[in-house]
Amino acid sequence: MRSRILELLRNAGNEFISGEEIANRLGVSRTAVWKHIKELRATGYDIVSQPRSGYSLTEAPDHFLPEEIKNGLKTRIIGKEILCFDAIDSTNIEAKKLAAKGAVEGTVLVAEEQGKGRGRLERPFFSPRGKGIWFSVILRPKFLPQEAPKCTLLAAVAVAMAMEQFGLTAGIKWPNDILYEGKKLVGILTEMSAEMDRINYVVIGTGINVNIAAEEFPEDIRDVATSLSIMKGENLPRVKFFQRVMESMEELYLMVSEEGFAPVMERWKKYSITLGQEVNVIGVGTNASFSGVAADIDEEGALLVDTPEGRRRVLAGDVSIRPKK
Ligand code: BTN
Repeated sequence: MRSRILELLRNAGNEFISGEEIANRLGVSRTAVWKHIKELRATGYDIVSQPRSGYSLTEAPDHFLPEEIKNGLKTRIIGKEILCFDAIDSTNIEAKKLAAKGAVEGTVLVAEEQGKGRGRLERPFFSPRGKGIWFSVILRPKFLPQEAPKCTLLAAVAVAMAMEQFGLTAGIKWPNDILYEGKKLVGILTEMSAEMDRINYVVIGTGINVNIAAEEFPEDIRDVATSLSIMKGENLPRVKFFQRVMESMEELYLMVSEEGFAPVMERWKKYSITLGQEVNVIGVGTNASFSGVAADIDEEGALLVDTPEGRRRVLAGDVSIRPKK
């Protein structure tokens, strides 16, 4: 009912629509309309009322509410179900639970705040309230489990494409960080459940630092983290940015189902700040490190590094770009 009232208010544009008209159109009492309007106001909608004219929506909140995210969203898979949380441990953890219970492909979970945001290698991920986009998408792709890590590249490209629509140029560091001036803007954690030859589900968790001021980052990450608002010099509308990310994700996901990952990899290379650079690599698990020039990524998304001893292939690891001398 709330979303239908919102739709009527939106359709009225700058005009007023009377409580009676809303009530008649939706087949409810005027008291019920009034109650819903009160609730909408409580969630942050600015709705003015005038005695004989009725109601007019003057401002929608930049909060994660399904009605807001769905309004004007041009996707048919990603965001089929949208679950918004005021606070949650981790959208990835919840997404995995829901996926295991059969949640539909394209289900999106987004939170205002995460208490236990998870990064790669069990690292914590800073996810403060109302300042970012902390979200997970459940997919059930037809491709093989070995291909799933490439979803991380897909998500990074999707965020980079959304940034472009806001006049921001992204640089992707292999495999999954988006950086600005060497500091991290976005982190992505892809998790999966699969049989040998079949994926049950993939959860792509993405954390985007949107409106975080430099001094709001905890001291231990202040030198390595940044946000879109720092990059742009002003705050960005989170809901609108989120819609563009979801749309880009869908565009790329449909591309993958038709043509495989090659076009996504091509786009990834376009945004890459790793390729062609001198890098230090620390292998996951082994902790062995080596240096070389990041030459390419192969069809599995692994980074190919040219070292004095020859070409090495990195499937998982921590890569840092060495500053030019
Ligand atoms: C990394 O950079 O190491 C990956 C960070 C991934 C963070 C996102 S925020 C939404 C989703 N929920 C989580 O707990 N983690 C991911």
